[in-house]
Amino acid sequence: MRVISGKTRVCALIGDPIEHTLSPIIQNAAFQYLGLDYVYVAFNVRAEHLGEAVLGIKRLGVYGLNVTMPHKINIIKYLDELNEEAMRVGSVNTVLNRDGRLIGYTTDGVGALKALKYAGIDPSSKKIVILGAGGASRSISFKLAEYAGELVILNRTVGRAEELANNIREIFGGSVNVRAGELTDERLRIELEGADILINATSVGMRPNENETPVKRCLLHKDLVIFDIVYDPLETRLLREARLIGAKTIDGLWMLIHQGAESFKIWTGMEAPVEVMREAALKRIGEVEA
Ligand code: ATR
Repeated sequence: MRVISGKTRVCALIGDPIEHTLSPIIQNAAFQYLGLDYVYVAFNVRAEHLGEAVLGIKRLGVYGLNVTMPHKINIIKYLDELNEEAMRVGSVNTVLNRDGRLIGYTTDGVGALKALKYAGIDPSSKKIVILGAGGASRSISFKLAEYAGELVILNRTVGRAEELANNIREIFGGSVNVRAGELTDERLRIELEGADILINATSVGMRPNENETPVKRCLLHKDLVIFDIVYDPLETRLLREARLIGAKTIDGLWMLIHQGAESFKIWTGMEAPVEVMREAALKRIGEVEA
């Protein structure tokens, strides 16, 4: 049994809903494995209570936060400082309480990059097609724009994809090759032909709509690395169909773990034990589904 003392550092997730989150399992497994006197809990915070909750977090001395839907953007106005990347992306998923000053970070982008690298995929100079233009896609697109040879952002609402591509061009100037388009079968067929990496950063395929897929099987090919950020179910229809044609796949749990590992590093200054975190999450998923 671990001992919680007056000195234990408290970290928390805030979001709504949060009851199915795997973050407490992942983070507590990491703290325990490294013998760190930290504990991680989850708080359901309604959108209209966000300001009060953040003030409470500050006053109670909660040491670190993860922030999830629907607060990733709205929390910004309650924070004291943002790092450069969070400011650029306009989204925060990690907060550090440094002596009463709340500092916001985004680790989604670097989490996706690390998930790719951990799977042995180097995005440098690659053609990457990313689906979606919401918060998750923004973080990942900004990060991968630094590396990709060509970045194509496709979204159901094409205006959001265009805005994101414009934002990326404003930051990186002419050094990036980024394009936007509408998420249609025809556009996918054209763009996927010469692509190396496909990332689904939409919520399509997530339970309870696990029979849906953002890309028809006939548009996939075996030389594509297919990375889905949806982790419930762990093997989405997109990943299952990719596996069946022999393509390399990366599941959304790896994304969750690597973005969580970056949060862990911000709070503790230490490298997170990603295999321990993954094992704890898989055990939990097995228990829940049994
Ligand atoms: P997140 O922060 O998780 O990215 P979000 O900002 O709500 O969440 O973005 C969800 C993304 O999934 C968006 O790109 C959304 O497309 P729209 O911008 O057109 O809304 C995409 N998405 C959600 N449901 C979709 C569906 N049924 N078909 C295609 N795209 C969908």
